[in-house]
Amino acid sequence: MSTRPLVPGHADALERARRVTASEKWDLDRRFPLVLDRASGAEVWDVAGNRYVDFTSCSGAAPLGSGHRPVLERVMTELSRSGGILPGPLSALRVELAERLASLFPVAERSFFFRTGSCATTAAVRLARVHSGARTVLTSGYHGWHDWHLQDRGPMGPPNRDPDSLDFRYDLDLLDALATTHGPVAAVIVTPEVNFFPQEYARALQDAVRRHGALLIVDEVMTGLRYATGGYHTAAGLTPDLITLSKGLANGTALSAVAGRAAVMNAVEDTYLGNTYQREVTPFAAALATLEALADGTALARMHEVGAQLIHGLNSAFAHHSTAAWAFAHPTMFDVVFADARLGQAFCRQMWSRGFLMQYGGRLMPSAATADADLDAAVKAADDALAAALAETGTGDMQAGRDGELLAAATEFARERFLATPDTVKTWFRRVERP
Ligand SMILES: Cc1ncc(COP(=O)(O)O)c(C=O)c1O
Repeated sequence: MSTRPLVPGHADALERARRVTASEKWDLDRRFPLVLDRASGAEVWDVAGNRYVDFTSCSGAAPLGSGHRPVLERVMTELSRSGGILPGPLSALRVELAERLASLFPVAERSFFFRTGSCATTAAVRLARVHSGARTVLTSGYHGWHDWHLQDRGPMGPPNRDPDSLDFRYDLDLLDALATTHGPVAAVIVTPEVNFFPQEYARALQDAVRRHGALLIVDEVMTGLRYATGGYHTAAGLTPDLITLSKGLANGTALSAVAGRAAVMNAVEDTYLGNTYQREVTPFAAALATLEALADGTALARMHEVGAQLIHGLNSAFAHHSTAAWAFAHPTMFDVVFADARLGQAFCRQMWSRGFLMQYGGRLMPSAATADADLDAAVKAADDALAAALAETGTGDMQAGRDGELLAAATEFARERFLATPDTVKTWFRRVERP
């Protein structure tokens, strides 16, 4: 396969973007230096006409692939039928979607909708505090960009500190210590890091949360529609008080939800959650069509199949070049970890220069729209890309595959990505289910 120069035909478009958008560090440096134009299924084209294959489902937002016909048609029909937005926030479609969520997620007795995952997690924390009367919130994992949470993400800087929101870094000992010194605890909110912590960990966490008399919020923004039907909490046998949903809920149309036990959701009557755009009905139409398309499990099974083949193909390339790198574990949302992060970054750059969008540190979440030919091509390209990355970085052969090496690389990756303590990764990582 030929190696295209990195981003051909892009200089002008990037220059223009740099002049007027605030996107240098996060949108360009940390992702891809690409200005994108359009997508269809898992295919995407940049403004210079280069074609790529997306293995991220648009950061998890579109599990059915971009432009999924039944979803688009439902949105277009609803847009012309209803006008798209109504003067009041209670619409028939909002009620219908809340009913659908209640049947899909038994915990979702009541729900409230927003546009972003960040709004849903912030609302969940507010509801837990109002319901419990306590201020302290213990948190692990990413929950969005709002101040109460972002304060603990090192390189992102400290915005207005919320002194009552504390990161327990997925460490159950630290959770106990923080709950003891800072209790009473309103809630523990956790994002399941499914490739690093097994379901057994999640159940032990739930036991600890209950022991401290706190509410459990499972942030299912990433996992809710992708890990398993009914979400991560159902698969792991958890009974959270609240969940948050967003990615995949409306296959790319901006929509999120906080949902949960009626008694906790009813705290909304004693506070205020605002969202002008609960009046916009098209996201609800997109969500109803998306949930219908996901209902029989075929799409999830396809994501699983694509992910499993990619994991296998990537690991074969890593073994072929004796490179200390690993693709694991849950096929619909797996991670790729290199012992040498610089090599991992070079590998991903080489992959997108060959037309396969990968970003080091970014989870791979294939969509159900991925074509077999693109999957095969990606696996073949991985071998070339790795050879080029090894040459580019001057990294020699590294003996891969030893258990200890994987644990060390995973520990560093988990510390850097979501602040997990080395102790907790050491305790739980080996027990992760590898389907
Ligand atoms: C688990 C989790 N929670 C919350 C968010 C924030 O969602 P948004 O970017 O829509 O605000 C994300 C986004 O990646 C997420 O992965």
